[in-house]
This record gives sequence, C-alpha cells and structure tokens, in this order.
Amino acid sequence: MKCQASTIQDILFDAEVWSSLKTPRLPQTQYLGSKERLVEWIYEKSPKDIATFFDAFSGTSAVGFYFKSRNKKVISNDFLKFNYHIAKALIENKNTKLEEEDIIFLLENKGAADSLIEDTFTGVFFEHDQARFLDQFRMNVELLENDHKKSLALAVMSRALTRKVLLGHFAHLSAIR
Ligand SMILES: C[S@@+](CC[C@H](N)C(=O)[O-])C[C@H]1O[C@@H](n2cnc3c(N)ncnc32)[C@H](O)[C@@H]1O
Repeated sequence: MKCQASTIQDILFDAEVWSSLKTPRLPQTQYLGSKERLVEWIYEKSPKDIATFFDAFSGTSAVGFYFKSRNKKVISNDFLKFNYHIAKALIENKNTKLEEEDIIFLLENKGAADSLIEDTFTGVFFEHDQARFLDQFRMNVELLENDHKKSLALAVMSRALTRKVLLGHFAHLSAIR
C-alpha cells in the first residue's frame, strides 16, 4: 500500500485531556463510508488482545480515535492530506489544544490572505463571504507555530464543513438555496 501520509500515535492521552474530550462537539460525519456510527460494533468484533490498531484507510479517524480512547496504540494512514491532518490532530496529538488566544488569532481578519477558495468556489460551494472567511482562516493556520495546532485548526475547519455535506455529497449551493 502506498503510505503517503501516515501518523503514529506513540503516547496516549493524558487522563485530564481524555476526560475533557468525551462530549462530541463536532457535527457527525455524513459522507458515505464513514464508520462513525459503527465504531462500538467494530471494536466489539475486534480481537481484545491487541496493543496496536492499524487504521489503514483512516478517513476522519473516527475509528482510530475510538481505539485510541480504549488505550490502543493507533497507526493511521490515508492518502488525502486533510485526513492526514485529522489523524495528526486526533491520533498523534497527545495533549495540544487550541487555546482561546489561538481561536482569536485564527478568526482575526489580517487582510493578507490569498483568494484560492474565493476564486474557485464562490457561487459553487460557498457564498462570497464564506469563501473569504475560509481563505483568511487557512492563512492564519499557516501562521500558527505548533504543528499539532495547525492540524487541529485544519481538522476543525474540515469537520465544520461537514455541515455542507448533504446525503454524502459536498453540496453545490444550488442544492441548498
Ligand atoms: C471509506 S473512507 C474511510 C472511512 C473511515 N474509517 C471513517 O470512518 O471515516 C476510505 C478512505 O480511504 C482513503 N484511501 C483510499 N485509497 C487509499 C490508498 N490507496 N491509500 C491510502 N488511503 C486510501 C480515502 O482517502 C478515504 O479517506
């Protein structure tokens, strides 16, 4: 298998971090193929004497994250960069969080962002102000100094955009107007 982007979690959460993560705060994954609703069943059907779980096609890391919560070491693999960032944020990351000052920094309009999403997706997937916001947010992520914070910010952005996914497909604006 081609492993273009893999992350390895070698240390488990601090107990304090895990206890603060028990309430899901992100919208549920909606794309076809997500195993989020099946994670408990998958875990129950898996051998109990394993120390390491290889999430070969990790996607949103829903499955890997569940195994991590059960104190398994998790190796994640996915050839999409945004899934790599989700795995880095949720699996490899032990205790880095986005603090309040990071959120403020990420949401600031620094006025120097490029216009990739604005030029490509305005009127397609996003209204103009949404596209500008996403371009600004992406640029602000690059200015964060910590790699786990960068991945967390990109993961949050990617999961928040789940709200744009209808019936398993990233929704064209015309479908929701
Ligand atoms: C059905 S999704 C994974 C679902 C995941 N377990 C979840 O619950 O979100 C399949 C994933 O496999 C990845 N994928 C497909 N072919 C791959 C390959 N040859 N190497 C690495 N990743 C691959 C895709 O990018 C996609 O994220």
